[in-house]
Amino acid sequence: MLRSLRELEVTKRRVLVRVDYNVPLQNGQVTDDTRLRESLPTLEYLLQHRAKIILISHLGRPNGKVVPELRLDPVAQQLENLLRRPVTKLDSCIGPEVSRAISQMKPGEIVLLENVRFYPQEEANDENFARELAQLADCYVNDAFGTAHRAHASTYGVARFLPSAAGLLLEREVTMLSKATKDPKRPFLTIVGGAKLKDKIGVLTDLIGKVDAFLIGGGVAFTLLKAQGARVGSSLVDEKMLDEARQCLEKAREHKTEIILPHDVHAVRESTAGGEQAVVPAAAIPDGWQGWDIGPKTIQIFQERVERAETIVWAGPLGKFEQPPFDTGTREVAQAIARSGAFAIIGGGDTAAALHQSDLSRAKNIHFSTGGGATLEFLGGRKLLPIEILRAD
Ligand code: 3PG
Repeated sequence: MLRSLRELEVTKRRVLVRVDYNVPLQNGQVTDDTRLRESLPTLEYLLQHRAKIILISHLGRPNGKVVPELRLDPVAQQLENLLRRPVTKLDSCIGPEVSRAISQMKPGEIVLLENVRFYPQEEANDENFARELAQLADCYVNDAFGTAHRAHASTYGVARFLPSAAGLLLEREVTMLSKATKDPKRPFLTIVGGAKLKDKIGVLTDLIGKVDAFLIGGGVAFTLLKAQGARVGSSLVDEKMLDEARQCLEKAREHKTEIILPHDVHAVRESTAGGEQAVVPAAAIPDGWQGWDIGPKTIQIFQERVERAETIVWAGPLGKFEQPPFDTGTREVAQAIARSGAFAIIGGGDTAAALHQSDLSRAKNIHFSTGGGATLEFLGGRKLLPIEILRAD
């Protein structure tokens, strides 16, 4: 059990809230505010209790330096629009400007500190920095599920110096994801797509023996296909990952966990969307052609598997969804999930973005997780320290 925000004494107190506002920006505007909207229940709870809310988040990977394009001002602006109340954005996380602003806060006011990754001490989980952050507040709430796989000063270190609890989003994510890790209903299917096998191979390997079958699409499929000796033409292959891919396939064989790779793909010649397109066998893609989506036979195989499944975890789109018609595989498989009624978790910003345009985001059986890497590591059974530190003894 996690210590809950509801058990924390927050009325009129200064509450430091770690959120994950690592959201996509374009021309200084937030292009997907899902993570902001998902944090609203916690913020509204704190507003009802007239807390003084001090928000802290990272944005991107500035590597411990000030990167002007990664300032949180556009995020503060969008949060004001959503909350319809002022959000005071500060230009640092610690120091006299911050202490002064916080000392002048009235109950029910909100400040947003600057991108915490502008400080090298954040990712180093520096103890003094964590202590300085702790001095800003009376208690600490972690609602940044998307960053729960990073034990940094603002996600982990600070929790040692303040009464702390999980926010409502973090709590809901852990409850939903635990349904897939603790005695899941079977058959249990994991669908993996996206561009980089490097980001997914760890969790894929962790899940072997725990799930019944994997359905693999997207760019990650081609490295696995090539590792099996298939001809993948000019499709995306991570040559450095071939050995790991072979080991992963071998481990799956030993544990009798099925890995179902694409049977056919929708390919384009010379990577030109307007150019020649064809459906070709996934194991014999001609030279100069790239697979951009799973093909119709593969869609059918995946749909049949989805129909029989009881638990489904999905991370990564199955094709280049941002360029129709190469979104077909992702959409059709998602619709099959919504129809199936199986309990499904869809994680990762790209997969959610691919499906948010459709009505699927309202399907009752699907939980859209705000995490990418965090969701996968949680499901793979890894202990996430920022969550562990919030467990009640
Ligand atoms: C995410 O978007 O997955 C989280 O915000 C973590 O970001 P990171 O991978 O840069 O640590």
